[in-house]
Amino acid sequence: MQFSKHIYLTGFMGCGKSTLGKKLAGFLNTDFVDLDKYISLVENKSVDEIFETLGETYFRNAESQSLEKISAHKSPQVIALGGGTICFNNNLNFIKTNGILIYIELSTKTLLNRLQNSKETRPLIKNLTPRQLENFVEIKLAERLPFYTKAHITLNGLNLSAQQIANNLFEFLKKNS
Ligand code: S3P
Repeated sequence: MQFSKHIYLTGFMGCGKSTLGKKLAGFLNTDFVDLDKYISLVENKSVDEIFETLGETYFRNAESQSLEKISAHKSPQVIALGGGTICFNNNLNFIKTNGILIYIELSTKTLLNRLQNSKETRPLIKNLTPRQLENFVEIKLAERLPFYTKAHITLNGLNLSAQQIANNLFEFLKKNS
């Protein structure tokens, strides 16, 4: 099946957006773009460095600009968003009018297990103790749920495969076209 719209993946840090996005793009034979990596290329700095030297507000503006640039591509792509992308500026509306938004959902417990081992490159959590990280994930997830739950499709991220995502996409398109 050929897609006419972009497919955007959202969800909390550590939910698997980039890994799943790459696999999904391979499965659908489309291009894959990781928004964080794209911003890093444009800014010539890691996301962590952008936060450190230029601040979060700068990052959020760069994020929205990069989102628009990537989305202007004519051919449909799988796009892995950052965990906060849809919560800033007009990004949620923009994404929903430009494509299909998929929320990859995971429990706080699973996210915590994953993030304990991968927090070094993530500016929002890299300096937190395990206790602080637990509080942060609980509070941020609750704060962001009203955005995540606006996605067109919500999928449980545990043992999720590219094929399952594609099946859900086809179902969604059948019902909504
Ligand atoms: C952020 C998530 C990160 C990155 C930045 C901010 C967030 O992306 O965009 O550090 O606000 O949740 P990942 O979700 O890919 O880690």
